[in-house]
Parts: sequence; C-alpha cells; structure tokens
Amino acid sequence: MPSWTRVSWIVVAVAVVVGVVVGTVTWAIIGRGPSPPELRNLDWWENTVIYQIYPRSFKDTNGDGIGDLRGITSELEHFVDAGVGAIWMSPIFSSPMIDFGYDISDFYDIHYEYGTMADFEELVSRAHELGIKVLLDYVPNHASTESDYFKRSVAREPGYENYFVWADPVIDSQNNSRVPSNWISQFGGSVWEWNEIRQQYYLHQFAVEQADFNFREPAVRQEMLNIMRFWIEKGADGFRLDAIPHLFEANPNDHGGVYPDEPLTGNMFLTSDQPGYTTQEHVRDLIELYDVVYEWRDFVDRWQEDNQAETKVLLAEAYANITMTMLYYGNERGRIGAHFPFNFDFITSLSAKSNARDFVYVINRWLTYMPRGQVANWVFGNHDNNRMPSRFRTNMVDGLNGLNMMLPGVAITYQGEEIGMRDGYVSWEDTVDVSACNQGNPDNYLEYSRDPARTPYHWNNSTSAGFSTSQSTWLPVAEDYREINLQAQKEAERSHFKVYQSLTRLRKEPAVSHGDHHIQALSKNTLVLVRHIITYDTFALVFNVGTETDTVDLSTITLLAEPMTVYASSIFSRRVPGDTVPLGEVTLQPGEALVLQAPPT
Ligand SMILES: *[C@@H]1O[C@H](CO)[C@@H](O)[C@H](O)[C@H]1NC(C)=O
Ligand SMILES: *[C@@H]1O[C@H](CO)[C@@H](O)[C@H](O)[C@H]1NC(C)=O
Ligand SMILES: *[C@@H]1O[C@H](CO)[C@@H](O)[C@H](O)[C@H]1NC(C)=O
Ligand SMILES: *[C@@H]1O[C@H](CO)[C@@H](O)[C@H](O)[C@H]1NC(C)=O
Repeated sequence: MPSWTRVSWIVVAVAVVVGVVVGTVTWAIIGRGPSPPELRNLDWWENTVIYQIYPRSFKDTNGDGIGDLRGITSELEHFVDAGVGAIWMSPIFSSPMIDFGYDISDFYDIHYEYGTMADFEELVSRAHELGIKVLLDYVPNHASTESDYFKRSVAREPGYENYFVWADPVIDSQNNSRVPSNWISQFGGSVWEWNEIRQQYYLHQFAVEQADFNFREPAVRQEMLNIMRFWIEKGADGFRLDAIPHLFEANPNDHGGVYPDEPLTGNMFLTSDQPGYTTQEHVRDLIELYDVVYEWRDFVDRWQEDNQAETKVLLAEAYANITMTMLYYGNERGRIGAHFPFNFDFITSLSAKSNARDFVYVINRWLTYMPRGQVANWVFGNHDNNRMPSRFRTNMVDGLNGLNMMLPGVAITYQGEEIGMRDGYVSWEDTVDVSACNQGNPDNYLEYSRDPARTPYHWNNSTSAGFSTSQSTWLPVAEDYREINLQAQKEAERSHFKVYQSLTRLRKEPAVSHGDHHIQALSKNTLVLVRHIITYDTFALVFNVGTETDTVDLSTITLLAEPMTVYASSIFSRRVPGDTVPLGEVTLQPGEALVLQAPPT
C-alpha cells in the first residue's frame, strides 16, 4: 500500500472519531432537538438571480451614444457586487434595428453597433471567470426582411420556398382581390404584406419588416437547432425564447384551404387595424407550438449530456393565460419544455391599485398551477413594459425587490430595478419604438411606447449618467439620474442598491433557498411572506402595499418567534437592520417593507 493511501486512511479514521465525539457532545448540550434537514443540491439556475440587460442602454464605450458589448464586459463586476448569478441580454445580433434587434438579419453574427464576435467571446469568458452565466435572446418567430432567408424565399430559391408563411390573395364574390384573412399585427395593421417580386403576401405578426418563419417547414425547424447549437458552442448558458405564443397560425389545411378570419371582439374603441379589434384564436397559443419548445428542450438536454456540460436553460417569453403558460413547463404525457415560462403576473395582474389580498391571490395562483417539482420565477419588469416603480409606487421598490428575492424560485431583475430606476420621459420627437411610431400620435403615443423603460442606465451623475461620454444618446437619459444612480447609492448609507445587495445575500440562507413558504394578507394592505425550514433561522417579509399607515399583529404567525431583528428595511423606514421588533403589533408606513429574522421554530 503506498504511504499516501495509508496517511489518508489515518486522516479519515481520525476525522470519524472526532466527528462522533463532537456530535455526541453537541447532542448532550442541545438535547434532543431536530437534526438539520438534508438540503438538496440545487442546480446553478434553480435559485439564482437573473438580470436582464438591454444592451443598447447599458453602457457605451465608444462614444456613439449606443450601448455595446465592451460596455457590458467592463461592468461585469456590478453583477458580482449585486449578487446576480446570470445575465440575459436582449438581442445582440445583426439587425436593421426596426424593432431594436428583434428583427434579426444574421442570426450568426453580432450587430456592428454592439461590437464583434471577439467582443462577445471576451464577454463570455470574463463572465464565466467571475461565475456569471450568460443567456442570449433567441428570436425564433421571425426574421428581418433583410435576412438572407427572406431574400432567398422571395426568390423561391430551392430549399427556401416555404421558409416563411406565403399566401395568395383571396378573390371575393365581387372579384376583388384582398388579403388572406383579417388578422391584425401586434404593432397594428394587417399581418399580411404584399411582395411584388413573389406576387404573394407574407405574414408578419409584428412589424412589416419582421417576416414570420413557417414552423411547419422542416428546414426551418432544423435551422433553429443549428442557431441554438452555434451559440451554445460559443459559450451561451441558455436562451430566453422570444414571442413563443406566436410561432404558429391556423393551418389552411384545417380550414378548407383558406386562412380563417378571426371573430371580432366587439371593442368599439378600436379601429379595424388595431390589435384587439379581432380575437386571436387563430394566431396565438396554438397547441402545435409546444412540440417545438419540447423539441428545443430535447436538443439542449442532449447537447448537455453529450458534452458533459452544465445545464443549458430555456426560459420562455409567453404572455398567455395560466393554463397555456404552464404547458411550457411540459405536458401530461411527460414531455418537458422550458426550464420555466416567465411569470409575468407582477406585470399583467398587479399594479399600484392592488391590495394585499390581490398580491397573495396572484402569487398563490402561480404556485398552485405550477406542475409539481418545477421551479417558480418572478418577473417585475422588462423592456416591453413600464418600469416597476412607475407601474407600482416609488415607495414600494424595496418591498417589491423583497418579494422578488424571497419568493421561492428564480428572481429576475430588469436593468435598473436594483437602483429603483423609473420610466424616463421620451418626447414624441425622440420616440423611436416601432410600436409607438406605428400606432401612436403626439397625443397618445405613450400608451404604445416602450421607450420609457429603455432609457440608458444611470451609473453616476456625470455626462449622460456615466452611460456614454456623448451628450447625445440613442434615447434621452431620464432627468432623475442625478438623484437615482448607482454610484450615489453605493455611497449612501441606505439605498435601494444596498437593500438589493442584502436581499440577494439573504437568498443563500437555507430558509430562503430550500424552505417552505407561507404567504397571507394580515390586513387589507399588509401582507407577510414567511420562509421557514427547521433548525435554521426563519425570515419574514412584512410589506404594506397600500397608501395609508397600517398596524398589523405579527403574534398570529406561529412560525415566528422572539427575538426578532430587522434584516433589511425600506430606505425610508424608521427601523434599520439590527433593530429589535417585538412579536406583536407593528405599524408600517405606506409602501414600507421589513425583512425580519427570527430564531428557528
Ligand atoms: C376577375 O378579375 C380578373 C383580374 O382583374 C379578370 O381577368 C377577370 O376577367 C375577372 N372575372 C370576372 C368574372 O369578372
Ligand atoms: C386558456 O386559453 C385556452 C386556449 O385559448 C383555453 O382553451 C382555456 O380555456 C383558457 N384557460 C383559462 C384558465 O382561461
Ligand atoms: C461616471 O461614469 C463614467 C463611466 O463609468 C466615468 O468615466 C466617469 O469618470 C464617472 N464620473 C464620475 C464623476 O465619477
Ligand atoms: C455627483 O456625485 C458625486 C459622487 O456621488 C457627489 O460627491 C457629488 O456631490 C455629486 N454632484 C452633484 C452635483 O450632485
């Protein structure tokens, strides 16, 4: 027996003896308390914080007023500092930028304003060194009409004829030629656009320049996998799947050879070219699309297995009802899909008007419908919706970040939420969002515009908020950047960023990473979320979501015990970390949130 083996046996033997002695002594001292539960090993993504970067607005390093990949690389430390585990970037691929990158002209290249492939490789390798995962935006529903795919399809090049959804005009009883169906695009106007060269209409569920791929064409399905493989091999740790509910439209073969018209919704406030004028029975949530998502999951799982790699995650962007949303996790026949569909409930079902019972109902709805064994997730904002403090109230920032970080599963932060960034003001003249430009006018464009949530990130109080050395940026910098910026929040004794940091740290506590959750409304406006696991400290978030001061009684919560201390609190709270809070009545100001730490129960 080589001597090193003998040494290790001795070490093991000594360790066992010491372990038994220490264990026995501990047992004798603390008595017959429950032993700590075994904490299941979590895969890297199951309890992480994912941060959405809007690359155009994150950080500009070449002074053109547009964010770039080197900007992201230069600020990767911010994510380590913030306690973020993964970033997902809105599209960074070659694009004419009609829909700011969601109209991709080359799925295999980096957009020139954002940098080069070398910049991307540098970003990934630096992020991985820092332990940050990198997720890409995957846009399968459509391609730019400037893409090679589209040009070849227009020319009916062999192999590409059916890459897109092409249709002949319909001749009506008066012998007039018209569009194939009454379907309306998400950005207004018909989904059908005439192509002179091919003498057919093509379908676009979004802008005219975004032609929908034909997912009934096997070559398209294969190409989608090629794209996925390409970026995985470049080091991507997964994908956010864009606009998935729109992958398929009704098949004319099931409707006597025609594209069926949608029934009208009867909404009298809309004109016939506005989304919402017709229903969307034939253009979204078609059951066929789920098989494509399941196919993608099989693909990434197989790649991962073949390459002995860490998990590659798929996150589905799907604004759908709860049943159709949950199907993205998988179906009852055992097919599995996305690691999770984004939970948009805090965007679509809750607002400044919601009371504590609304919050509790909406949170429990997700957790109840979610299939067993799956991982939840919580989204508070993104590049398509007004920013979180603007949709709710600015005094709710810390409480909302508290819910995000303390609810079970994955927390998702949109760029700026960690410092409480609000919507920026973007005048009609400065408006660039295709949704607003197509559907809006100087009086109503803000109803359609996504620009206010996309203004540049606030790094500090100097030129263009430290986003760019240029005074002129692609969207104006919000005026409040002098008060709301990262540097100021790092220097302040109390700030949203500091609360955010302590909340992301809190996620490592066993009660939060592995514990049970218990949520209830203590009054009309105050809710409590308790995270609990035996033998470890319990944590509770108490949050007044209303506009009036509220007093609630914590003594009814049996999972809590004294002495309770404040772990984190809203920046305006009179209570600061370390303060003791009695297990009795507590009064909260409007919007105030407290995270309490209590001994094991
Ligand atoms: C219908 O229109 C086409 C093309 O405009 C024309 O060639 C054809 O004669 C018309 N048929 C009838 C029945 O009017
Ligand atoms: C969700 O939508 C699907 C398809 O449109 C429909 O069949 C189902 O009844 C809806 N479910 C709920 C809970 O609204
Ligand atoms: C603000 O941030 C920019 C970009 O990081 C930096 O170049 C600049 O020096 C900063 N200004 C101040 C006053 O810290
Ligand atoms: C700008 O920020 C720096 C650093 O946070 C601070 O010391 C300075 O007072 C600020 N200047 C203004 C005009 O707000």
